[in-house]
Amino acid sequence: MDKVELMIDGKRIDGRTADQLRPISIVANPIRNAAGSAYIEWGANKIFAAVYGPKEALPKHTSDPEKAVIKCRYTMAPFSSVEEHGKPGMNRRAIEISKVTAEVFENVILLNKFPGSEIDIYIEVMQSDGGTRAAGITCAAVALAASGIPMRDLPYAVSAGKVGDTVILDLNKIEDNYSDADVPVAICPRKKEVSLLQMDGNLTKDEFDTALNMIINSGSYISQLQIDALKKPYEKIEERYL
Ligand code: CDP
Repeated sequence: MDKVELMIDGKRIDGRTADQLRPISIVANPIRNAAGSAYIEWGANKIFAAVYGPKEALPKHTSDPEKAVIKCRYTMAPFSSVEEHGKPGMNRRAIEISKVTAEVFENVILLNKFPGSEIDIYIEVMQSDGGTRAAGITCAAVALAASGIPMRDLPYAVSAGKVGDTVILDLNKIEDNYSDADVPVAICPRKKEVSLLQMDGNLTKDEFDTALNMIINSGSYISQLQIDALKKPYEKIEERYL
C-alpha cells in the first residue's frame, strides 16, 4: 500500500488534533418495535442498534438453565462503504465483531435474572468510516439501557492508534487503513474495567499507555452523551410535572 500522509503540521487529515474525537450524537429508541434501540452518528459512521428480549432461548440447545444468553449480530449494510471490501452480511469479520461485542455485554447484564432466556442485540452499520465496532458497542449499550434490561454498567468503546510516532484517538477509515496500529477498547466506567481490547499493529508500552489514557480521558464525554440520549425522551414529561 502506498504511504499516505496522515499528519500534517500536527493536524490530522480531517483537521483534528491527536486526542480529539469525531463529532458524536446518539438518539435513544428510534425503533419502536424493539424492546430498546439506539442510533448513533459518530463521524461519518451511521449505526442502529436494537435489542429484543429477554425471551425464551431458541433453539433449546442454545439456552442456559442458569442464565440468559446474549446473541449479538453485527452487520454492515452492503451500501455502507465506498469501497468493495468483500461480501456484506455475516462474513468472518462480522462474526468476530459480533462475538467480542456479545462478550462486552455478558459482563454487564445481570444474566442470572433471566435463566433459560436469550437477549438479542442487533447492530446494523448503515454507513461506515472506521471504528464501527466501537461505535456499535457505544450505541448498543444505550439500546440495552433503553430496553430496561438490568445492567451493572453502561459500557462505551473507542479506538486509539498510531500514525508514525504520534498516538491518536478515534481513527477514521483512512487513518485505520494506513495507520501503524489500531486499538479498539471498551470500558465499563463504573467498575473501571476493560471489557474489550483488540490490537492491530504494534505499540510500545509507553505508546500503549498514552493510547489507553486518551481512551479513558474521552470516556466521561462519551458516557455523558449516552446518558443524555437516555434521559432525552423523559425531559418533556418532567417539564409537564414541574
Ligand atoms: O469499523 P472498525 O474499525 O471497527 O473495523 P475494521 O475491520 O478495522 O474496519 C475499518 C473500516 O474499514 C470500517 O469501519 C469500514 O469503513 C471499512 N471496511 C469496509 O468498508 N468493508 C469491510 N468489509 C470491512 C471494513
